[in-house]
Amino acid sequence: MRVVAVMNYKGGVGKTTLTANLGAVAAARGLRVLLLDLDPQTNLTFSFFTVDDWQNRLKDNRTIKQWYDSEILGRDISLADLVVTPERVNHVLRNSTGRLDLISSHLGLIDIDLELAALLGGSTTLDGSKRKFLDLHSCLRDALEDNHFDDYDLVLIDCAPNFGLVTKTAIVASEQILVPAKADYLSTLGLDYLAGNCAGLVQQFNDYVNHKPDSGTYRPIDPGFLGVVFTMVQIYSQQVVLAQHRYIEEVAANSVVPVLKSRIRNSSSHFGDAGESGVPAMLRTNGKDDVVREFDQLADEVLSALALSGDRR
Ligand SMILES: Nc1ncnc2c1ncn2[C@@H]1O[C@H](COP(=O)(O)OP(=O)(O)O)[C@@H](O)[C@H]1O
Ligand SMILES: [Mg+2]
Repeated sequence: MRVVAVMNYKGGVGKTTLTANLGAVAAARGLRVLLLDLDPQTNLTFSFFTVDDWQNRLKDNRTIKQWYDSEILGRDISLADLVVTPERVNHVLRNSTGRLDLISSHLGLIDIDLELAALLGGSTTLDGSKRKFLDLHSCLRDALEDNHFDDYDLVLIDCAPNFGLVTKTAIVASEQILVPAKADYLSTLGLDYLAGNCAGLVQQFNDYVNHKPDSGTYRPIDPGFLGVVFTMVQIYSQQVVLAQHRYIEEVAANSVVPVLKSRIRNSSSHFGDAGESGVPAMLRTNGKDDVVREFDQLADEVLSALALSGDRR
C-alpha cells in the first residue's frame, strides 16, 4: 500500500479534482484505491455522495471527524469501520478489478485541529511531551497500518489548505506528497514555504524518535515530494500561454519541489459541474480527448514513481 498526501496551502488549485480523478483512473486500471477526505470543506466527499446521502448515512457516525474525536477522547473507533464504497462510481468500475473507496469528511473537522493542539500541550515532562507529540502525529499512520488496509494498493489523502495538526498527521502517514498548483504568482509563491514546513516537521519528528522516549516504538519518517502538477493550464494553439509558461519554468528552475512532466489543462467542459454526478470526469468521457490523455499521463508518471502498475496496460 502506498500513501500519498495531495496538498497545497492554496485553495482552489485543483487538489480535490485531481485526487478524485487520479484515484478514478488508477481504479479503472485495476488498482484498489482508498480516498481519504481530510478537508473540512468536504468537497471530495461530495464528489461521490449527494448531500442527502451524506446527511442520512454518513454524517453522524461514518466520517473522519468521529475517528479524530475518538483519538482525542481515548475511545476506540477503528478507521477501517469508516470506509464506505460509493455506489455510482463503483458501478462504472464494475468491469474493472479495481475499486474506489472513501473515508468521508465533516465540516466539524475544522475544530479538531484546536483540540489536538490542546492535547499536545498537556504534558509536564520533556519525555512526556515528546511521546505525546509522536503519538498524536503518528495516529493516522498507525491506523493505516491495520491489516484491513493491506487490501489497498493506493491511498490518496486530500488535505485541507493549511498546516494544522490534521494535515501533519497526513504527512506523517504519507510516503509521498503531490502538490497541485495553478501556474500563477499566488499559487506558486507558497511552494518552497510548504517544502520548508514539511522538512521542519520531519526533522522534529525524527529528532524525537532518535531521542527515544522511555516507552513506545516509533519509526522515523521520510516523505518525499512526487512533485508539483500544474493544473488548469491554459492552452492556446496547442501551447501553454506565455505567462503561465514563465511561471512553470520559474518553478522548475528555482523551487526545491520538483515539477512533474504531466499537466492538466483548464477545461470547464470536464470539470465545470462540481461533481454532482458522483462519477469523476475521467470516468464519464467517451474515448480519449486531450484531458483524458493528460490524466493518463499523470497516472503513468505517479504510479510508476510509486512502483504501482494496473492491469490494463
Ligand atoms: N483542470 C481544470 N479545469 C477547469 N476547472 C477545474 C480544473 N480543475 C479543477 N477545476 C475547478 O476549479 C475549482 C477548484 O478545484 P478544486 O479541485 O475544488 O480545488 P481545491 O481542492 O484545491 O480547492 C472547482 O470548481 C473545480 O471544478
Ligand atoms: Mg478541495
